Amino acid sequence: MVSLLEVISARMQAVTHIDPELRLSTKPAFGHYQCNVALRLAKETGRNPRDIAKEIVEELDISDLCEPLEIAGPGFINIRIRADRLGEAVTTHLADPHGGIPQQESPQRVVVDYSAPNVAKPMHVGNLRSTIIGDCLVRVLRAVGNIVIPQNHIGDWGTQFGMLVEQILDEDIDPTTLTLETSVELYQRAQTHFRSDEDFMEAARKRVVALQSGDEETIRIWQTLIEVSKVGFNQAYARLGVLLTDEDLAGESMYNFMLDAVATDLEDLGLATEDNGALCVFLDEGDSPLIVRKSDGGYGYSTTDLAAIRYRVDALTADRIIYVVGSPQSHHFEQVFATATLANWLSCEVRAEHVGFGSVLGPDGKMFKTRDGKAVTLDTLLDAAEEVATPEVAMAAVKYADLSNGLHKDYVFDVTRMTATTGDTGPYLQYAHARVSQILRRAEADGDVVDDNNAEIQALTEPAEELLALTLSRFPEVVEDVAENLQPHKLCGYLFELATYLSVFYEQCPVLHSEERSSRLVLCRATQRVLATGLDLLGIHAPHTM
Ligand code: ARG
Repeated sequence: MVSLLEVISARMQAVTHIDPELRLSTKPAFGHYQCNVALRLAKETGRNPRDIAKEIVEELDISDLCEPLEIAGPGFINIRIRADRLGEAVTTHLADPHGGIPQQESPQRVVVDYSAPNVAKPMHVGNLRSTIIGDCLVRVLRAVGNIVIPQNHIGDWGTQFGMLVEQILDEDIDPTTLTLETSVELYQRAQTHFRSDEDFMEAARKRVVALQSGDEETIRIWQTLIEVSKVGFNQAYARLGVLLTDEDLAGESMYNFMLDAVATDLEDLGLATEDNGALCVFLDEGDSPLIVRKSDGGYGYSTTDLAAIRYRVDALTADRIIYVVGSPQSHHFEQVFATATLANWLSCEVRAEHVGFGSVLGPDGKMFKTRDGKAVTLDTLLDAAEEVATPEVAMAAVKYADLSNGLHKDYVFDVTRMTATTGDTGPYLQYAHARVSQILRRAEADGDVVDDNNAEIQALTEPAEELLALTLSRFPEVVEDVAENLQPHKLCGYLFELATYLSVFYEQCPVLHSEERSSRLVLCRATQRVLATGLDLLGIHAPHTM
């Protein structure tokens, strides 16, 4: 599916020889798209931009797609797409089996590392955001034709397991009776115990060694802890309606057998050096080093991530690796990527990207806390939303709030605003979908069903129709942009615009009792399809009634 914008851009570029960089016009008076290529060329050549614009317009043969081009102000070129072409774009998308989603010419193997909660710890808001954002990116990257490999890098390894196993034995607990919740409590008791009792501290340390050397009983208890946590994670995934399954689990422990080699190879490459007993990679002057091996001989979080990169590149043959992890870990990923690049485990053919995101804040603008002052978990957020809305609407509200801001921004968790059916919210988009579905249902009751494969738009006469069609024609670009730049808020913003133009269209253009009934029903059907497809890419259900 090639979009109108792409065709027009390509034709222009054949004349200008540089990217015309078409932008949506800021005002209807400036047409649909605006182009400042003449101003850029003028700067380079020292010529008058209006003269250049005139030459471009004269040379460009585009009357089959656009109204006569206009030159405005100092040399902007205003482009207005012909109404019949806009109508055609809408019907072509409708007949497209991919619903107007552009398909990648050379599909890639994309690893998406997201969610990644920790065993015996509740899912924190960071894991929640990662799960929602990662789920959206997986959907978008898959929809454009890539092979997406989700990797749930759960925290199932580390010294804390020595303490946890020891506490289980100490309290004589049957680990199979634990749940994610009770194992979190156990974790807290183990921590207190560890701090107050030196014998326990020593036993816990020995237990770590036992775990690492494969002691049977220790391994069995450790595995049980993972199992009970997995049940808890899966409950959360089911509640959220995300695509993650057990198949996608690739926890930290999986890379354990590779850690010695990571250390030795980094030493052999001359990248890692001993510093006060620890093995370190010094990257930037004045920056703390990446620690490969601690002075006690243990490996940490960074070493595991280095091993994971090798595994993803070599075994999973990834072309692109995306990490959806909170912004506080930016520095960690910078160091890991830099080290992996120096070691040549990550070549320039593989793109590794950290998609960071901000925190969720309370109404007071501070880190969101529950009423009793505890850190917020996934369930508390969802419960809060479900207090004021049905589960389906609450989910849409929470997900949309998470996706619709620039990812790096913190956002305020305001249930009333998020669940409102007006304004830039998930429920508003669901409502728009339900409303347009209702019109189509009414037409259907008259035996009037839009045939997606043979739909026709006679004419777009009203500005509101034209604006709706123009917006529909932009869907492929928006999806492509999100697949490339990994910014879900662009898709949210687009869908909100579409829903807004849909309501302007309702106000100004009667559908069922009008001469243009059949064309307008096609517009309604196309809007319904794009709203449903777009919401699905966000992981939000598009209801037919509300
Ligand atoms: N378990 C970590 C946490 O909860 C996130 C892991 C992210 N993924 C990674 N490859 N480091 O903070």
